[in-house]
Amino acid sequence: MKFSVLTLFPEQVKNFLSESIIGRAMEKDILSIDCIDIRDFSGNRYGKVDDTLFGGGTGMLMQCEPVFQAFSSLYDASKETKPHCVFMSPKGQVLSQKKAQELAKYDHLVILCGHYEGIDQRVLDEIVDEDVSIGDYVLTGGEVAACVVIDCISRMIDGVLPNSEAYEEESHMSGYLEAPQYTKPNIWHDKKVPEVMLSGNHAKIKEWKRIHGLYDTWKRRPDMLEKLEISAEDWQKILKIDKEDS
Ligand code: ADE
Repeated sequence: MKFSVLTLFPEQVKNFLSESIIGRAMEKDILSIDCIDIRDFSGNRYGKVDDTLFGGGTGMLMQCEPVFQAFSSLYDASKETKPHCVFMSPKGQVLSQKKAQELAKYDHLVILCGHYEGIDQRVLDEIVDEDVSIGDYVLTGGEVAACVVIDCISRMIDGVLPNSEAYEEESHMSGYLEAPQYTKPNIWHDKKVPEVMLSGNHAKIKEWKRIHGLYDTWKRRPDMLEKLEISAEDWQKILKIDKEDS
């Protein structure tokens, strides 16, 4: 999969994504992430890409033409269809695992990052397919949000993680949170790893994880549980954990 990030701060995005799992996936050519500096398309000697707002207001707005030229440099409009373009914005649909799965289907995804007061609406109307937010708060720019989106999508792409189970069993994939996990030693600070985890009985372990995942969801994110249909039998098991815990 190919990501193209249109930004005024390409180094910020590159530095974050060149490390660890994503960095290794790029080395293996499973992913490519190009960061395009919008300033290179300023059309002036100073690299100026912003101006004051019509109608008043503080701050500066990124202008249409540099953003449009940067986007246009990514494909040949006479031969290729326009790549899917996501604008990082607090006004967008909030990122979820489902949204990331949807975006993972594109071969080429362009991620546009705004800065200052934002970007002139006219170029957004022309090139952007959808706005995506990473939460109900405002950041200084879209770069950190773009890194979050790319990280979240990348780990679902074949070959990035060692196997698909590595992410399929995780929080949010199934609609509920992941159960607690344990590693050696068996006892630490007098705390024991739950016995079932040492039993080698895979069916029992799977069931323990499922019920404890549901229990944690009920305790931490009851809003997520509302979207699931929990059977009476499962509720009994969840309430039993609650009794044991209290
Ligand atoms: N840019 C500024 N704030 C943002 C947010 N919450 N999500 C995505 N992009 C942003």
